Amino acid sequence: MGMIPQEVIDNLLDRLDIVEIISGYIQIKKSGRNFKACCPFHNEKTPSFVVSPDKQIYHCFGCAAGGNVISFVMKYENMEFPEAVKLLADGAGISLPETGRGSSPSLTGPLYEINQTAADFYHAILMSEEGRVALEYLKARGLDDKTLKTFMVGYAPNGWENFKTFCVKKKIPLEFARKAGLTIPSEKGKGDYDRFRNRIIFPIFSERGRVLGFGGRVLDNSLPKYINSPETPIYSKSSVLYGLNFSRQAIRDEKYVIITEGYLDVISSFKHGITNVVATSGTALTESQVVILKKYADTAVMVFDSDQAGEAASLRGLDTLLQNGMKVKIATLPEGEDPDSFVQKNGRKKFEKVIDEAKGLFDYKLDLLIKKKGSGEIGYITEEMLPTISKVNNAVVQSDYLRKLAERLGVDEISLRREMSKVKTGYSYRYVAPAEPSKTEHGEKSIEFYLLGLSISDKERYERIRDELGLDSFLNMNIRKAIGIIDDFYAAGEKKINPGKLLSRLRGDKAVCDIIVQALAKMDITSDLEKALSDCIARVRKDNRNAQLKGLNDRLKEAEKARDDEKITALLKEMSRLHKEKVI
Ligand code: CTP
Ligand code: MN
Repeated sequence: MGMIPQEVIDNLLDRLDIVEIISGYIQIKKSGRNFKACCPFHNEKTPSFVVSPDKQIYHCFGCAAGGNVISFVMKYENMEFPEAVKLLADGAGISLPETGRGSSPSLTGPLYEINQTAADFYHAILMSEEGRVALEYLKARGLDDKTLKTFMVGYAPNGWENFKTFCVKKKIPLEFARKAGLTIPSEKGKGDYDRFRNRIIFPIFSERGRVLGFGGRVLDNSLPKYINSPETPIYSKSSVLYGLNFSRQAIRDEKYVIITEGYLDVISSFKHGITNVVATSGTALTESQVVILKKYADTAVMVFDSDQAGEAASLRGLDTLLQNGMKVKIATLPEGEDPDSFVQKNGRKKFEKVIDEAKGLFDYKLDLLIKKKGSGEIGYITEEMLPTISKVNNAVVQSDYLRKLAERLGVDEISLRREMSKVKTGYSYRYVAPAEPSKTEHGEKSIEFYLLGLSISDKERYERIRDELGLDSFLNMNIRKAIGIIDDFYAAGEKKINPGKLLSRLRGDKAVCDIIVQALAKMDITSDLEKALSDCIARVRKDNRNAQLKGLNDRLKEAEKARDDEKITALLKEMSRLHKEKVI
């Protein structure tokens, strides 16, 4: 997509309400004129994320994130500007004008496209005669056509060049197939060959359902069981959760997420009507996965089979969940079962029962350690338990756990607490350094910053600033740039500035956007804007006068050295005039 015309964006912003859009993503509560929420972009317990319907912007006091509805979607969905605009336009039923293709040299577009093509290609083969072995295998594993279609499961037939030949036929550049990891360059320079051969294909989707990569499973017991797409510009295994595009609404509704390991665990659960499920794709849960999940729910139920349950190491990964403020529970399946086999064998009700009986992480881990080592291994058990307890970000719960742990191990609670204080606390408020303006809060520039906010807040205030101070007096280049755009707005006859629209003029310029958002946030906590305006104007004038006086004083000293009486007299006269001039 090429450059989207500004009118189109303005038109879109006129039709959208930031409150409505953001409340589709997170829970927000009315608070005075604004709406408040826990910030989806950093980890917090008390809401410092504010959405302003008047200004059509959002701002977080905790992490300094802020912007208009488009920047919210960009950040939340991890999208580029045109994509976010398109998403919002689609949602509002507004069609965007076709802009010239190929104007953006970005590689990600073609990669998404070729992945979608490949998913369609493999799915069509699975459903054709050529895919019969694979379809039989999947049917034997309890999957039906509808489920296979939903998850776009496919089959890559045997042979080295099936997909490659298809690309050639469809005139898809082979470079894209290679960059997407669908083909691999041969070492002997004989051209590329298909990565996936004689395997069941599971497309891996983004949160919004775009194909990012693939997992390919053998049809028998041969090894490796899975071959996966490599890391590409659009696929990073550690930050994707398989199935989330299908389950995100259910996770929000149920208020918890079931975390499994494998593609088939997700697919089979879905088939049986349990839809708040994702899979980590066989790896330990990563921080970025947890941050993603946290947007949807604050409780996670991990489903372990009994082998995994035996390993305390796999539990350590769960601390990541705690650290991000999620509640963690663990459900255990009977020996030899995974969620896929269990639900296929026992059905929905029994699986739900397993989930209901999930134990809290504290109890689970402690039981496990005691079972493994016996409650006599006090040193070992406390060493494993204390770091976990330290990551619980609720002091009351933490204290309760310590009491329980002391009781279970039959040790003195005081000494346990003493040990605890040695454990470096794992829970830390992730403070993101605020952008530019706050750094200069106590410097000269903070006034310019105020003046910027005041200029946006009201046309007359802006005119007073322009007329009494002049626009050249702004020293901070970002503020100057913002003021220039504000001036354009008023000059175009706008009576009131919609900050959301103002930001859209800046598109990529994050530094300026941040300054505007923060200046506006300052306005919110300033009770008397008229007084603030007068104070700022007076202050700038006073500063200017002081700077002038200092300059005159320097020149006076020189003139005295040179015994230039004429100059001395002139300078003294000028200085006395300045002193007399009323600044306020
Ligand atoms: N996995 C992987 N590479 C492997 C093995 C496993 O990427 N070599 C990932 C896959 O995402 C897989 C998950 O780990 O879905 C769980 O692995 P496993 O339990 O072995 O596979 P299942 O998908 O459950 O397969 P099946 O039930 O068919 O044995
Ligand atoms: Mn399995």
